[in-house]
Amino acid sequence: MTVKNIVVLISGRGTNLEAVLKAAADERWDEHPGARVAAVISNRADAAGLEVARAAGVPWHVVAHTEYGSRASFDEALARTVDRYAPAVVVLAGFMRVLTAGFVRRYEGRLVNIHPSLLPLFPGLFTHRQALAAGVRIHGATVHFVSTEVDSGAIIAQAAVPVQPGDDEERLAARVLAEEHRLLPRAVKLVLEGRVRFDKERVVLDGVGHDELSLLAA
Ligand code: GRF
Repeated sequence: MTVKNIVVLISGRGTNLEAVLKAAADERWDEHPGARVAAVISNRADAAGLEVARAAGVPWHVVAHTEYGSRASFDEALARTVDRYAPAVVVLAGFMRVLTAGFVRRYEGRLVNIHPSLLPLFPGLFTHRQALAAGVRIHGATVHFVSTEVDSGAIIAQAAVPVQPGDDEERLAARVLAEEHRLLPRAVKLVLEGRVRFDKERVVLDGVGHDELSLLAA
């Protein structure tokens, strides 16, 4: 059996990377769906998540956006590094660069992102601040296929997190993050299994229960 490679792109802490690595180990993804995290790539040399990769013995690379004169040339360098692993899935786990349409198309149907809000609400940055300012009662996180428009691709799975009285950005972010750590590995596994596919800008499900795609925080 050929093993399916997962490449994870990060820019920072790497707690979502850690969650994927933990699920892959605990759930024996090497046996089913026959997959492994093959490499981690960061656009920042100081990303703490690189230490997570190192500790797990996963090959890692830095492709520093600051060394490239344009988005296109950075994305080309990034794609060259990604392609060394011929990945089945590329995961954006706190990767803080906007990708060019060329990059997105190259990995269409294989490129997933985790965003800390219930999309289509609150795209972009400072999502917890946006949620608190809007006064929503339910916030959360979304895993979606990446499309050429930022934070707007077809939705794979979502986790809902109630906003509590007295929440500030930090408290809310921490509760959402805990759900991200449940949501992302689950969504990645479903894509690896081929039970969630991307077809003509839409998500197609194959024997996936709806409860597998919508998590509710306790
Ligand atoms: C997460 O909140 C993720 O949703 C967002 O960036 C953050 C990354 O956190 N895209 P970490 O690096 O995985 O800890």
